[in-house]
Order: sequence, then C-alpha cells, then structure tokens
Amino acid sequence: MITQYFKLNENVPDPRIISQAARLIEQGELVAFPTETVYGLGAGAFQIEAVEKIFQVKGRPPENPLLVHVSSLIQVEGLVRSFPEEARLLMETFWPGPLSIILPAAPSVPEIVRGGKAGVGLRMPDHSAALAFIDQAGPLAAPSANLYGRPSPTNADHVKADLDGKIAAVLDAGETGIGMESTIIEMMGKEYRILRRGGLDPEQIEKALNRKIEIAANQKPHYQTSLKVLLAKDQDTYYETADHCMRQGRKIALVNYSPLEKLPSQNITKQYYINLNDQNVQLYSILREAEELGADFIIFAPLPEGLSGMAASLADRILRAANPEG
Ligand code: TXA
Ligand code: MG
Repeated sequence: MITQYFKLNENVPDPRIISQAARLIEQGELVAFPTETVYGLGAGAFQIEAVEKIFQVKGRPPENPLLVHVSSLIQVEGLVRSFPEEARLLMETFWPGPLSIILPAAPSVPEIVRGGKAGVGLRMPDHSAALAFIDQAGPLAAPSANLYGRPSPTNADHVKADLDGKIAAVLDAGETGIGMESTIIEMMGKEYRILRRGGLDPEQIEKALNRKIEIAANQKPHYQTSLKVLLAKDQDTYYETADHCMRQGRKIALVNYSPLEKLPSQNITKQYYINLNDQNVQLYSILREAEELGADFIIFAPLPEGLSGMAASLADRILRAANPEG
C-alpha cells in the first residue's frame, strides 16, 4: 500500500484534507493524525476489522486496549455505561487536553477496542486538526502511531519510519507540542488510580477532585531501540561510563539536564540537553535521532532526586527507556 502524506496547518486545518481523511476512515482504513502529545494511529472505533488492522500493523498484543478519541461529551455518552460526576468534572476542567479517563464501557464498544476489559479509555486531544478530524470521522480508536515497543512518534517522519507502506495516510501537522503521552486515570469504581504518568500533572487532578489519588507503579517494558540506553546512577558513573564506551571505540550520545557540561570528543555523536521542567518533551525525538546518527550508546546523566509533576513523568519515561545496567 502507498501511504499518502497530507500537510496540515495545526490551527486552520484544510477542510478538504480532513474530509478526505475521514472518508478513508469510513472505508475502514488507518490514518495517523497529530495530537498535542504524540501522533495517534486512528481507526473508526466501531469498525472491528479496521481496529484489528491497528494491532496487526503495530505488532501490538491484542489484550492491550486502545484509547477512544472523542471531540465532544455527546460522543462520550454513547461510549460509557455510567458517567460519574467526578469524571464529568475532570473532562470539563482538563479537556481538551492530555488526560485520558477510563470509565465503564457501554456494551456497544467492541471487545477488541477494550482489550477484553470492562472499561473504555477516553481521550479528547487539545489539537484543532485532531478535533476537526474526529468531528467528521466519529470516535477514533487510536494508540500511538509507532511499532509496538518503539518510542512514540512526535512528528510525521517518526510515523513514516515505523509505518510507511502499512497505513493509508498520515496527517502531518509538524511537531507535537508536549512530546509525551497523556496521563491516564482509571475511574472504574470508588477508588481512582493513575495508570500512567503523562502530560497532565497528577497533582492538578488531585486538586480538581479534592482527594488523594494512588499512582500505579510503572510496569511497562523498555522501548526497543537499536542503541543501548544507559542511565547513570551518579555523576562519577556518568563520566566513567562515557569514558569506557569511548575507549572501546563506541559511538556515544550524552544527555544531561543542564546546558553547561559539554565534553568535547570526536567519539561523541551528539550531546543533548533536556530541561526536565520544559513543557515540550524532546525525549522520543532524541532517542530516534541518536539511533539515526548511528550512536551505539546513549548515556543519561543521573536523575535528580525528588522530582514532581511533569519532570516526574519525564523521569518515568527515561527510566523506561534505560537498560538496567549503567
Ligand atoms: O497521548 C496519548 O495518550 C496518545 C495519543 C495518540 O492520544 N495515545 C497513546 O495510546 O499513548 P497508547 O495505546 O500508546 O497508550 C494508551 C495506554 C495503553 O497502555 C493501554 O493499555 C491503556 O492506555 N488503556 C487504554 N484503554 C484502556 C482501558 N480500557 N483499560 C486500561 N488501560 C487502558
Ligand atoms: Mg503507545
């Protein structure tokens, strides 16, 4: 299949392109689209064969459910069995935005979308082009638009690298704003839980609901990358590891969290600086770029203690990326 690429203005999306993409969804095809977090791979949420294709092209295990992307609360009402007041409050406060909410699913939500679970994950992206697309194409079941296990895509090139020739189209609105996936809260019973840290600080949710919410431990496997990702446990190890790799003639990339420390060496493919408090997370872009530049290792400086909010979400992703040693 030849994948079509459509350039789209994020704020003023061309209605003809949106209609063309919506028609592809109607025909049971897959279309990748931008959101404020990462690119999604969309199929009609009620089109079982199209949803099956998502699992096939990504190589994703079938028990891993998909978020359903909506553009209005009316769409939500058709997807849930119950709609607690507190869920409505979160939607009114944080939507459109990087918060996904898991609620008891209406029987009409296909099994395959829910991964066989009782809940359906709902998300309303804060992105004009995405909302225009969902408005026309109806609720879209969509995971991140990467191959299973790979870092999520934050631009259309990343989507192309993973899915070119396997999906009908990509809506390309440039770089995503946040660069990290949405925060997920499960609201299935009386106790709520954050299942994944992400683009919305859990503290803001606690404030809105005026109660403490448990954050589930990160149980996700590593990203699959062609380079080895190392996270130094302290500053000495950081330099020693870099030194050791270079002595062995390996190409390394380095990441630290302040712009000051630069190590000049020709074996350093690139030195990156991540501001842990930045609202725009570059982590996935960096991992993919360092791979493309042919680095054998990417070494992260030790993470500071006591991070909170978005910085803690980012640290969560760095930990997830890192191999155990280092
Ligand atoms: O920002 C995001 O959330 C992006 C953009 C594209 O919206 N989407 C995304 O989707 O990251 P995905 O599939 O890569 O990650 C969603 C996570 C999965 O780990 C899945 O297990 C969990 O949400 N999830 C989805 N529906 C669920 C449900 N009904 N019950 C429990 N977990 C669910
Ligand atoms: Mg994903």
